[in-house]
Amino acid sequence: MAEIIIVRDPDEAGAIAADEIVRLIRANPRAVLGLATGSTPLPVYEALRPRVAGLDVSRVRGFALDEYVGLDPAHPESYRSVISREVVEPLGLDPALVRVPDGSLDGIEHAGDDYERAITEAGGVDLQLLGIGTDGHIGFNEPGSSFASLTRVKTLTEQTREDNARFFDRVDDVPRHCITQGLGTIMRARHLVLLAFGEGKAEAVAGAVEGAVTASLPGSAIQLHPHATVLVDEAAASRL
Ligand code: GLP
Repeated sequence: MAEIIIVRDPDEAGAIAADEIVRLIRANPRAVLGLATGSTPLPVYEALRPRVAGLDVSRVRGFALDEYVGLDPAHPESYRSVISREVVEPLGLDPALVRVPDGSLDGIEHAGDDYERAITEAGGVDLQLLGIGTDGHIGFNEPGSSFASLTRVKTLTEQTREDNARFFDRVDDVPRHCITQGLGTIMRARHLVLLAFGEGKAEAVAGAVEGAVTASLPGSAIQLHPHATVLVDEAAASRL
């Protein structure tokens, strides 16, 4: 059973998660962070800014959950760009130590294996931040994803493409494929911290936290994890 913390607002959740990350870095300056994109983790990155001032983060390592396939890495909405803009630059991390799955078409067939190897060689992820999609996806593991899955290419559902259209000019500009850590990859992280805010996430949160553990709701995999923390506001907790 995951530990559920109901917070006042996203800022409080950001502060709680950021404090945990700072504790981790103090204990191990080479900590391995599992980074997430989407709007949900932004308050965590905000809260980290003042907290890492004066802390040596030069050796902190990071692995993003996922990336669009075939989107120019320089596109402002590629997850490579988002992670640079929201995490690496403001926190002063070493860009060479923060990886995002390689979504370029060139070499896509071995990009998943390469990413898995890199995570293993880093010693695994210490703390994995997670958002959740309205359909219960984590990373880009859409309903039906195997709990044993590793980093691989997936097709985005229409629902997710519509949800993410707000980051693009038109829904047609949202890529159709992605490369994402698998549920098996995510489950190997030593601590999962899932955040969700707003009424729109209430159903996915209830399913993930106390529904049946099923591939139909990938977020429900967290119930099988020995150390999972869920930070939700009242609205996202309203169906619990
Ligand atoms: C995106 C990301 C997920 C994220 C989810 C929710 O598609 N790949 O990692 O958790 O959708 O996004 P948001 O936090 O913007 O609601």
